[in-house]
Amino acid sequence: MEKILEVKDLHVTFSTYGGTVKAVRGVNFHLNKGETLAIVGESGCGKSVTSNAIMRLIPDPPGKISKGEIIFRGKDLTKLSEKKMRGLRGVDISMIFQDPMTALNPTLTIGTQLKEGLQQHRKISSDAAEVKAIEMMDLVGIPSPKERLKQYPHQFSGGMRQRIVIAMALICEPELLIADEPTTALDVTIQAQILELFEKIQEVTGVSIILITHDLGVVAKIADRIVVMYAGKIIEVGTKREVFYQPEHPYTKGLLNSVPRLDLQGEKLTPIDGTPPDLFSPPAGCPFTARCPFAMEVCDKVYPTGTTLSETHQVDCWLQDDRAKRLLATTAATTAEK
Ligand SMILES: Nc1ncnc2c1ncn2[C@@H]1O[C@H](COP(=O)(O)OP(=O)(O)OP(=O)(O)O)[C@@H](O)[C@H]1O
Ligand code: SF4
Ligand SMILES: [Mg+2]
Repeated sequence: MEKILEVKDLHVTFSTYGGTVKAVRGVNFHLNKGETLAIVGESGCGKSVTSNAIMRLIPDPPGKISKGEIIFRGKDLTKLSEKKMRGLRGVDISMIFQDPMTALNPTLTIGTQLKEGLQQHRKISSDAAEVKAIEMMDLVGIPSPKERLKQYPHQFSGGMRQRIVIAMALICEPELLIADEPTTALDVTIQAQILELFEKIQEVTGVSIILITHDLGVVAKIADRIVVMYAGKIIEVGTKREVFYQPEHPYTKGLLNSVPRLDLQGEKLTPIDGTPPDLFSPPAGCPFTARCPFAMEVCDKVYPTGTTLSETHQVDCWLQDDRAKRLLATTAATTAEK
């Protein structure tokens, strides 16, 4: 499978008066061409910082990509000039944020904004740009697109505005679309419709998608693979089936038990007790130790570097590490003898 993006050992820090926040701490993952990769995890675990780093949108200062590589089409984005990055953003890689209003200019018609994006980057006549704008409006499900191009953002509902933002993000036919909580600002029924739209867009355009969302129901429906983040690290990654039905990290299991799931109606929900560690001075060992019911002595001392469970499934947990398994077996035998 062709890899469109490869993030290697990414570290992002923020310098603040209180010290250095180690927001992303050695993240590795890749995205295959044409797939949807979901990034999930509790608030503050580094999902947005990771995706903003790919777009090189980390405010510097206070932020900094302190280490690592972001390989997109064979080029390391961390080393590109700002000018080259500007040429890439919105063209080869597009990003959609929570609030559609911040992406739209209230003083310009939707048609002008859609066409502008295209004409800035492609040598194309106004008429051809209009044809493309209508095509995109149609793709994202806006009725009577030709007429509605003449309208202003305030003449559209929140859900329709987010559809327009998605059309804008796709009009230059990017290879990669990053959507950071694209539906949080919308009401629940509209959220579902917008997320279904991502599925359709993927089918029609073949774009590769990174989707950040709190909604595991959505992930279950539209993601191919899932990355689970905790305290600035990826603690489990796998196909949707692996992460949903054979999760191995206690945090992933906790996360799945703490939110409602369409496929497990009637199951009791259990929130994960406690809070993530302080990212000013994260622990040297597993950051989940303080909340983990299975924590062992080794856990808070040494970080459990990934165990490969299948070609697609990796987990950072001592419970899956052969060395800890041997240790556990010895302890169990000694206890049984007593
Ligand atoms: N500009 C900044 N200055 C200082 N710290 C920051 C800054 N931006 C992000 N951080 C810190 O980086 C960490 C990761 O934040 P991030 O926004 O990536 O979390 P998230 O996983 O996207 O959370 P949420 O689900 O709430 O959006 C947090 O501890 C956050 O406080
Ligand atoms: S490494 Fe230890 S503390 Fe961390 S999740 Fe696994 S068992 Fe729990
Ligand atoms: Mg975020």
